[in-house]
Amino acid sequence: MTKFSKILGTGGYLPEEIRTNDDISQTVDTSDSWIFERTGIKSRRIAGADETASSMGEIAARKALQTAQLNPEEIDLIIVATGTPDRVYPSTACLLQHRLGIKNCVAFDIQAACSGAIFALSVADQYIKSGTAKHALIVGSEICSRIVDWTDRGTCILFGDGAGALLLGASEEAGVLSTHIFSDGGYEDMLFCPNPQASTEANKNEAGFITMRGNEVFKIAVNTLERIVDETLEANNLQKSDVDWLVPHQANIRIISATAKKLKMSLDQVVLTLENQGNTSSASVLLALHEGISDGRIRRGQVLLMEAFGAGFTWGSALIKY
Ligand code: UT7
Repeated sequence: MTKFSKILGTGGYLPEEIRTNDDISQTVDTSDSWIFERTGIKSRRIAGADETASSMGEIAARKALQTAQLNPEEIDLIIVATGTPDRVYPSTACLLQHRLGIKNCVAFDIQAACSGAIFALSVADQYIKSGTAKHALIVGSEICSRIVDWTDRGTCILFGDGAGALLLGASEEAGVLSTHIFSDGGYEDMLFCPNPQASTEANKNEAGFITMRGNEVFKIAVNTLERIVDETLEANNLQKSDVDWLVPHQANIRIISATAKKLKMSLDQVVLTLENQGNTSSASVLLALHEGISDGRIRRGQVLLMEAFGAGFTWGSALIKY
C-alpha cells in the first residue's frame, strides 16, 4: 500500500486554428460583447481535419512524460476521459497506449462529460493508493467542435478543442489529499449529446449535437459546485484560507466567479484559461492545471482545489497538495 498519489508531470495541447467570437458572429446572431460578458470567452481552438482525441492526447501525454522525466514503458495505467472518442471502440485509451508504444499496461476510457478528468483522477488515485499501479497517465482530450451545432448560438459559442495530461506516481508524501465524485442521471434532458448510430425509433431524428438548456444547467452547476467546495474542505478538516489555488472546469466565468466567491478567493488565485480556450469539456481542468504549473504560478507544497460539473449530471472535486 502506498500512502498517496502525487503529481509528477503535466502536459497540454491546443490545435492551431483559432475561432474568435467575431468569426462566430458571422454565421449566427450573436456578438463578441454578448459572448464575452455572459461567458468570459473570446476565442477557442478548433482541431484540424486529421486530428483525433488520441492524436491530441498523445502530444499532451508526451509533454507530461517529459516534465516527469518518465519513459512511456513505466506507465502501468492509462485513463482517457473523452466525449469525442476516435471510435466507439477500441477505446481512445487503447489507441493512445499504442501511439505511446506501451505494451503491458491497462488502458480504458471514462465517460463523465465535463467532469471526466476529475473522475479519471479519482480512479487513478485509488489504483495508486491500493498499490495496483505505480504510474498513472490521465488524459482529457476533446474535439467538441465536431459535436457542436454551429447554427445553435446557445452552445456553439461555448466549446473548444484541446487535450490535457497528468502523470500521477506513488508517493509516501502528499499528494492527492482526497477526491469526491458524484453522479445523478436524472438530468438527461438538460444536457445531452445523442449517438445517432444507436438511436431508437423514438429518437432517430436527433442529430449528434450537444443539446443544452443552458440557463437551467448554469444554476444547478453554481449550487452544486458551491456545495462540493464545503464537502471537500470538511473531509480534509481544512479552512477556505488553506487553499492556494482554485483550478476549475472552464465552462463560464460567472460559474467560476461564484465558486471563487464561496471560497473567499480573488480571481488572482484562480487559474483561468477559458478566455482563449472556451469549454474544452474533460480537457479543461487538466489544461488549466498544466498552465498554472508550467508558468510557475502553482508551486510545490501549495494546496489546489480542482472541480468540475458536467452532463449526467456528474460533478467532482480533488484536493491536492502539489
Ligand atoms: O460544462 C458543462 C456544463 N455547462 C455549463 O455549465 C453551461 C452553463 N450555461 C451557460 O454558460 C449560460 O447559460 C449560457 C452562456 C449558455 C447562456 O447564458 P444565460 O445568461 O444563461 O442566457 P439565457 O440562456 O438565459 O438567454 C438570455 C437571452 C435569451 O434571449 P431572450 O429570450 O432574453 O430574448 C437568449 O436567446 O440571451 C439570448 N442568447 C444569446 N444572445 C446573443 C442566448 N445565446 C446567445 C448568444 N448571443 N450567443
